[in-house]
Amino acid sequence: MNDVLYINGRFTTTAERVIGVEDRGFQFGDAVYEVFKFLGKRPVFLADHYRRMEHGLREIEIRSPWDESRFAAIMRELIARTAFDNGIVYIQVSRGESERAHFYRDDLEPTVVAYSRIFTFPDAAKKERGVRLITTTDLRWKHCDVKSVNLLANALAKKKAQRAGADEVLLLNDGVVREGASSSFFGVRGQTVITHPLDEHILPGVVRDRVVGLARAAAVRVDEQPLPASELFDVDEAFITSTTMGVLPVAAIDGRTLRRGGVTPVLQRHLDEEERRDAGLVSS
Ligand code: PDD
Repeated sequence: MNDVLYINGRFTTTAERVIGVEDRGFQFGDAVYEVFKFLGKRPVFLADHYRRMEHGLREIEIRSPWDESRFAAIMRELIARTAFDNGIVYIQVSRGESERAHFYRDDLEPTVVAYSRIFTFPDAAKKERGVRLITTTDLRWKHCDVKSVNLLANALAKKKAQRAGADEVLLLNDGVVREGASSSFFGVRGQTVITHPLDEHILPGVVRDRVVGLARAAAVRVDEQPLPASELFDVDEAFITSTTMGVLPVAAIDGRTLRRGGVTPVLQRHLDEEERRDAGLVSS
């Protein structure tokens, strides 16, 4: 089945080959991306994804191709044209296409691509079982708050996890835990949740932000400070968050088993409710 593809103002399917070989996204990684989920044909946390993408575009000086209402209208139409009810949409905006040169022109037309993909989100068994993590050095660039398409360091780290029979890899740098290769990380000590502060070392996760709010609303203390790598095995429990995974408990890190239960299942439940509320699938 071909997925629905939006490119530069028109809808087609992913069967069409559409990107120029001199597109700067392809040649220089000169692009930002987003991934949002939809449930029952309704987008989840769409405004949050829009805001983050605008932040990335501003930071790397790519002209935004849309205002929020146009963005939302395109994404809603894309989902409406899609054959399935639940899935994800991948969006990429590159600086555009021009003769290959490191210096970029200021007048380029951004290349805008978005397509839907069917996706099976974690079921109850996976949410209970959780994920196994390994740790490795964070080799990414120094502007990780921009969701740029330069994912080579993430992909290489993720491959290490796969070879070790793990699901995700925790990126460590300067003696502290940053985040997962494609997820935010939270440690739990007693009734306090610890997660890296928002700065250039991590991606401002959409789910991270929601979970911080949900934890505070549930009277769980949130400490936004880097967790020293030396204290990683002293946490009572841990979990990771992302658009595709939601909240998943950490079953083990580098082969050491962690306790499960505690606040993680509570936050999982709250996030599920918040997603459905945001999508308009239940009344608030
Ligand atoms: N990844 N940190 C990194 C490095 C990520 O790549 C992601 C998400 C997250 C979680 O962000 P959010 O809660 O907004 O999904 C944190 C996406 C899903 C991806 O690359 O596919």
